[in-house]
Amino acid sequence: MLSTTAQARLCSPKQAARLSRVIAPLLTTSTSTLGHPVGIHLAFIPAVSQHPHHNQSYGSTRAFSTTPVNRMRDFFPAKETENIRETPPAWPHHGYTEAEMLAVVPAHRKPTTWGDVFAWKFMRFCRWGMDFCTGMKNDQKVDKSNPTTATHSIKPLTESQWMIRFLFLESIAGVPGMVAGMLRHLHSLRRLKRDNGWIETLLEESYNERMHLLTFMKMCEPGWFMKLMILGAQGVYFNGMVLSYLISPKITHRFVGYLEEEAVHTYTMAIKQIDDGHLPKWSSPDFVVPDIAVKYWHMPEDKRTMRDLIMYIRADEACHRGVNHTLSNLDQKEDPNPFVSDYKGGRAPPRPALKGQGYERTEVL
Ligand SMILES: [Fe+2]
Ligand SMILES: [Fe+2]
Repeated sequence: MLSTTAQARLCSPKQAARLSRVIAPLLTTSTSTLGHPVGIHLAFIPAVSQHPHHNQSYGSTRAFSTTPVNRMRDFFPAKETENIRETPPAWPHHGYTEAEMLAVVPAHRKPTTWGDVFAWKFMRFCRWGMDFCTGMKNDQKVDKSNPTTATHSIKPLTESQWMIRFLFLESIAGVPGMVAGMLRHLHSLRRLKRDNGWIETLLEESYNERMHLLTFMKMCEPGWFMKLMILGAQGVYFNGMVLSYLISPKITHRFVGYLEEEAVHTYTMAIKQIDDGHLPKWSSPDFVVPDIAVKYWHMPEDKRTMRDLIMYIRADEACHRGVNHTLSNLDQKEDPNPFVSDYKGGRAPPRPALKGQGYERTEVL
């Protein structure tokens, strides 16, 4: 848990107060009664007990956490039953090579149609709102003229600021794929038409986003205010996405493409700030990646730092970026999904992670 005492060390008192007020009043009843100050429950003590090779136990305090490990509640433990050993992910992750993850770079697709412009401007508005609500200072922002590709800022964010952004971003990022998949599924049922392979990719995207969220939830326990914000955001965002997808799936995919540009940018910034030594809690050798993440991404034993984890997540976001920009370029009713198609002449299927602007229709059909 990152108490206000810790926040004062990680960010200015004013910023800490604002973060506490805006995002994280956050104490559970049990901790409140213990008299601990209000703050963000960052613990970074994910699934220690689930790793047989980690011999630390609950009850110790870690260098990167101000919270004794035994106060971090595992608030979605696996359900123990008499006969089930484990429940693996329904959509196993396809994995990445190191080279693929390193090749991911922030990118921006220039808006060309009025629909693109609308999607881009609305994305900028959402980004402004998030920066405002999370108390991001001007000197923590990048060059305004290249907001999704510039990575230099005067001041770094703190670990708690990053975690708030990750949590909030991931809690809404899992919505569009589910909405689009659901609406295409219903469309296929009522119009008695095939879907051409879009639904599975879209649902898998939302599943993948939810795995990102669950991974961060194992490191940071949101309080009631953050939960309330997530609840409200989902209520507004889900209904907005349904309406938007019914009106124009093309513009909606473009909007999601821009959202994913932001995600790639966010994680690239976090990696840069880890590399620059600004986030010592995440660079600590004591840091343990949550077990849920190790299993999902099949993370090798020597590649389980926070930086490694963010590299995997960033590569996922780059896939979503390429997929959604490409889907926006296709005929929504007739075109097959190129990312699950077999090509003639042994041609390899497109690689969305490495195509920041997405593929044009003529490139993939
Ligand atoms: Fe994500
Ligand atoms: Fe994403």
